[in-house]
Amino acid sequence: MHLASKTLVVGLICAASAGAADMKKAARDWKSKCASCHGADGKGHTDQGKKMKLADLSSASWQKANTDAKIKEVIENGAKNGDAQMDGYKDKLSAEQIDALVSYVRSLKASSKAAKKKAAAL
Ligand code: HEC
Repeated sequence: MHLASKTLVVGLICAASAGAADMKKAARDWKSKCASCHGADGKGHTDQGKKMKLADLSSASWQKANTDAKIKEVIENGAKNGDAQMDGYKDKLSAEQIDALVSYVRSLKASSKAAKKKAAAL
C-alpha cells in the first residue's frame, strides 16, 4: 500500500510534467467550470451530478474505458445523457486549456485525495 501510494505520487508528478503551471490552471478551470456538475473529485456527487446521473470520472473502470481523444472530444463538443446535457467548451477555452483539462481528468484517477488536496490548496 505504501509503495503503491508512492507510485501514485510519482505518476501524478509525471502527469503534471506537461507543465505544472498548466495543471494548476487546469485545476482552476475544473473548479470553476466543471466541478459544479462533476464534483471537485470527479465523482459527480453534487446535486447536479446526482440528478444527471454522472459517471464517476475517478473510477478505474471509467478511466480505462475512455481514451484521451474521447475526453477531449467531450470537452470540446459537450455530451448528453437523456435530458442531462453538458455544453461544449470549444469556444470558451483555448486548445491548451482543453489539453490541460484532459490531463487533469486523468489525474482524478491517480489519487482523488491528492486531487482534492491540490484543488483545496489553490
Ligand atoms: C451542466 C453540468 C456539467 C458541466 C458544467 C460539465 N459537465 Fe461534463 N458532463 C455532463 C453530462 C450531463 C455529461 C454526460 C453524462 C455522462 O457521460 O456522465 C458529461 C460528460 C462528461 C465527460 C464524459 C463522461 C463519459 O462517461 O463519457 C467528461 C470527460 C466531462 N463531462 C468532463 C467535463 C469537463 C472537463 C468539464 C468542464 C470544462 C465539464 N465536464 C463540465 C455535465 C456537465
